[in-house]
Amino acid sequence: MSDNLIDIRHLKKYFNVSSGLLHAVDDVSLTIPRGKTLGLVGESGCGKSTLGRVIIGLIKETAGEVFFNGEDATKFSGEKRAEFRRHAQIVFQDPFSSLNPRMSVSQLISEPLIINKSCKSKAELDAKVAELMDLVGLASRLTTSFPHELDGGRRQRIGIARALALNPEFIVLDEPVSALDVCIQAQVLNLLADLRESRGYTYLFISHNLSVVRYVSDEVAVMYLGKVVEKADNSTLFRQPLHPYTQALLSAVPIASVGPKKQRIILEGDVPSPVNPPAGCRFAGRCMYRQEICTQQTPELVEVEPNHFVACHCTGHLVRHA
Ligand SMILES: Nc1ncnc2c1ncn2[C@@H]1O[C@H](COP(=O)(O)OP(=O)(O)O)[C@@H](O)[C@H]1O
Ligand code: SF4
Ligand SMILES: [Mg+2]
Repeated sequence: MSDNLIDIRHLKKYFNVSSGLLHAVDDVSLTIPRGKTLGLVGESGCGKSTLGRVIIGLIKETAGEVFFNGEDATKFSGEKRAEFRRHAQIVFQDPFSSLNPRMSVSQLISEPLIINKSCKSKAELDAKVAELMDLVGLASRLTTSFPHELDGGRRQRIGIARALALNPEFIVLDEPVSALDVCIQAQVLNLLADLRESRGYTYLFISHNLSVVRYVSDEVAVMYLGKVVEKADNSTLFRQPLHPYTQALLSAVPIASVGPKKQRIILEGDVPSPVNPPAGCRFAGRCMYRQEICTQQTPELVEVEPNHFVACHCTGHLVRHA
């Protein structure tokens, strides 16, 4: 059995839009070890959600492979594909819009179990729903409540229970706390951490919020316009970011107890369009280290020190000066 539950190779997702081909995910290779959390961070529109959806097969990839437990899930069909879809689940950002308002808590949590014919009797179904509600911290008195009667935290617990119903191994958490009040965010993050600990889940945790990603992740990947520009273990990335974009992102948020105080780097220029992007580094228009080569050749993601990957032509310079 491979140590990496997820192993994505050269994954691409392009959308045909009126102005051309939108490169939402462009040649992304990543691994996620079993039982670990990979944080995926980047500004809105950089392709995080698309990547998460393509990995679990909700959206068909344009090219590339997604190895799950050592097998290429993009080639699965029939029962094998159905099994993969059970093992790879997603929790969405906005639990309100992702839950049918006309269904009660027990109906919402039963739904995936009924669709997948997971229970042989009504009694077994009720017992499973009660078990899932308990697991995610929903009081049994809420069984007959409807989503609009609950606060955002409880609604998100329903979303999590639905994702857990079919005993997944891998869960994409797509901004799971971004729509919640700050104090409720911590409760839901702790629930997710406890579940990972007790059940051994593997997470892809997507967020635009660096503080949240730092709190939950073992490793962190930074995305910019469809590409992963840096990946490292959590402490390395926050202590010694090497890509100019990561450095700018980190300089913009006050994160306590991370290295020496850094001067804020103001990003200049606009985020370029992901439609028909030119060759070269996508960050070149905003980068203070830009060289001639940057607009001519696309930098590959390379390992510049053990388990620290950076896609930048000038990493030699960056390593020395970081
Ligand atoms: N179904 C779609 N059709 C066309 N463009 C899309 C579609 N889904 C996402 N995009 C585009 O892909 C890019 C990445 O979007 P998304 O993955 O939602 O980013 P993020 O989650 O990082 O905010 C954006 O430019 C977005 O407009
Ligand atoms: S490749 Fe060049 S433009 Fe891109 S981040 Fe590195 S130095 Fe900046
Ligand atoms: Mg998104």
